[in-house]
Amino acid sequence: MIKARATLGIGAGAPSGGSALALVPTMGALHEGHRSLIRLARERAAHVVVSIFVNPLQFGPTEDYSRYPRTFDADLEVCQAEGVDVVFAPSAEDMYPPDRQVGVSAGEMGSVVEGEFRPGHLDGVLTVVLKLFNLVQPDVAVFGQKDAQQLAMIRRMVADLNLPVSIVGAPTVREPDGLALSSRNRYLSPDDRAVALALSRALTAGSALRAPAEIRRAALAVLEAEPSLALDYLVLVDPATFAEVGDDHAGEAILAVAARVGATRLIDNVTLSLH
Ligand code: PAJ
Repeated sequence: MIKARATLGIGAGAPSGGSALALVPTMGALHEGHRSLIRLARERAAHVVVSIFVNPLQFGPTEDYSRYPRTFDADLEVCQAEGVDVVFAPSAEDMYPPDRQVGVSAGEMGSVVEGEFRPGHLDGVLTVVLKLFNLVQPDVAVFGQKDAQQLAMIRRMVADLNLPVSIVGAPTVREPDGLALSSRNRYLSPDDRAVALALSRALTAGSALRAPAEIRRAALAVLEAEPSLALDYLVLVDPATFAEVGDDHAGEAILAVAARVGATRLIDNVTLSLH
């Protein structure tokens, strides 16, 4: 494994039916969810690049950019153990020179749901992901369904800007008790962690139902039973557009939640099949 780009001798070709190069973009503090993405990338491509970059552009002024967990040495060990070929870990100065002007706009879809609570966040995500695509030039890039709107917006960017990369979505990895793995979980005290379980419990309660109004009501009841949880949103949306679905919606829908537990903001979602 090497810690820079461009030294990888690609040319041996892709495995039959696979691609030559897969990229797994991350902000580090790697956990089992990231590892599952790396494994999926290895199934899809002969070579795997993991990027580790805490992207200042996607954090709001009051968010946790400076205290976001940075565990680079442990991350390198994870990448080594997972057979990653290249770790690309640029500095913020390299990625964003002071004279930078141009970025990607996530459009209207970037201002709903997550975008309503984190203005500019999805613009920042798309800008860094496009830069990573241009720097690494992968055939395939793997993203988690855990960040469902991020994944939907990256698919939208690839379609709208005709980017020559295939996007692969990966299922959410959870703790045995249902908590979705997140780099931010390490901020949670044992009491916070117990409260945080309400997110996955709410999604499970909604998943048992089929009518949008009932799904929203059942999930909300679980969240409201937890007074120390501050809800940002609970929505049932179209997976491609993130617009709220109507009562007559048929097909897939995403039940998504964001809430704060103490100073930690958590998100989670589940895909439902409505008919
Ligand atoms: P980060 O939060 O580090 O996540 C990197 C990738 O891991 C994302 O695609 C995310 O959806 C996925 N992931 C996180 N938790 C997961 C879980 N429990 N199960 C499966 N996959 C999970 O998302 C980002 O970084 C950044 O926004 C990034 C795309 C790197 C752009 O800066």
